[in-house]
Amino acid sequence: MPAKRKSIHGEWSSRLAFILAATGSAVGLGNIWRFPYVAGENGGGAFVLVYLLCVASVGIPVMMAEVMLGRRGRQSPVNTMYTLAEDERSSTHWQYLGVMGMVAGFLILSFYSVVAGWTMAYVFRVASGVFDGATAEQVSGAFTVFVSDPERLLGWHTIFMVMTIIVVSRGVKSGLEQAVRFLMPTLFVLLVAMVGYAMSTGHFSEALAYLFRPDFSRLTGDSILAALGQAFFSLSLGMGAIMIYGSYLSHTASIPRTAVIIAAMDTSVALLAGLAIFPIVFAHGLEPELGSGMVFKVLPIAFGQMPGGTLFGTLFFLLLVFAAWTSAISLLEPMVTWLVENRGMNRVMAAAWSGLAAWSLGVVSLLSLNVWSGYTLFGKSFIELVEFIATNVMLPLGGLLMAVFAAWVMSRESSQDELHLSGSTYRTWRVLARYVAPVAVAVILLTAIGIL
Ligand code: PFF
Repeated sequence: MPAKRKSIHGEWSSRLAFILAATGSAVGLGNIWRFPYVAGENGGGAFVLVYLLCVASVGIPVMMAEVMLGRRGRQSPVNTMYTLAEDERSSTHWQYLGVMGMVAGFLILSFYSVVAGWTMAYVFRVASGVFDGATAEQVSGAFTVFVSDPERLLGWHTIFMVMTIIVVSRGVKSGLEQAVRFLMPTLFVLLVAMVGYAMSTGHFSEALAYLFRPDFSRLTGDSILAALGQAFFSLSLGMGAIMIYGSYLSHTASIPRTAVIIAAMDTSVALLAGLAIFPIVFAHGLEPELGSGMVFKVLPIAFGQMPGGTLFGTLFFLLLVFAAWTSAISLLEPMVTWLVENRGMNRVMAAAWSGLAAWSLGVVSLLSLNVWSGYTLFGKSFIELVEFIATNVMLPLGGLLMAVFAAWVMSRESSQDELHLSGSTYRTWRVLARYVAPVAVAVILLTAIGIL
């Protein structure tokens, strides 16, 4: 019977190793770059509330489903879905859920690498001391000049993608565990210190109110969709990253506890980032709608003013690069395992080819920030369009289908056996995965496209 499959790609050394790797995947640019700017674009409090509701009622049950499917299938997401569908005597078309996930991962990696490149550049910029004593206008202006230079962006994008390819080609298990174990807590401590600094700006309560006092008049179909997409993006759900990591998890580890721990860590990093950034925004009279450059326009102002800010800021951006790196690895891994399993490629070639493909699409995104900024579709530049489709449409749809498969197609025996759950906890998960998550995602998607 299927319960005791083994992955040809190996296994984590312990449950902690899985938690560290999955947290490494979840915590990244999504928390520190994306969460504050999307919250700012969508009016703050009400968006944050919907985001938290999405994490708790959709994110956690979907994460449990995704890890469970991965561990039961123990292959690339495409082959896992194929095999599990066969096990349950259902249509093998479920494999296309894995295919959609690979495509979503590919699209996300393409722009993710571009933004990670900005972060790398900022390590050196902050270190050089150019922001010492700089005004908010100077810092914003520096970012605008920076993104209008395609050659610079290309250099950083290339370096970051090569770094990602190198780790994936060696196999994600070596090194990831140790690295996450030390660097993640350091990033966390730096964020807490940033929040401490933000408290001293005198605008902390304004930021608290902005982030946590919901103004429901700001809530629209689009902002609810943005909150849902952000929950999926931040938790790395809906595309197979968590599924492939789950496929390396040992049979004895408890999935529910693991999912709650990962979601709690991820969410606290996002909220801390918000609490670090918004007081500085208000202290300098900036508007919350700063767009995707927000963290680069705001944090350097503080680094330029606080004592020891150059060193602190350099370390901060360095750790953010690292957090982005551990996430990018998980974006590439599903594609690579599929190429190894189905195309007979070795890991190195598989990582190189898929990374090269994502790099090429990233170049288009990068040029859409400057040379091709005049070309838009539905009011969005190419990079914004790719980000929107992958994050707000493909990830939630992928998550919906995973929940449906886990809670409707898989038999009760299979899911209960794999989750090691019984009684009311199992029933709670099943209600969330059967009804709450799919209905919430479907209603939000249909409302946003104007059907409901
Ligand atoms: N969760 C990552 C972040 O917050 O930066 C991004 C990400 C990784 C999204 C893996 C999706 C994914 F499958």
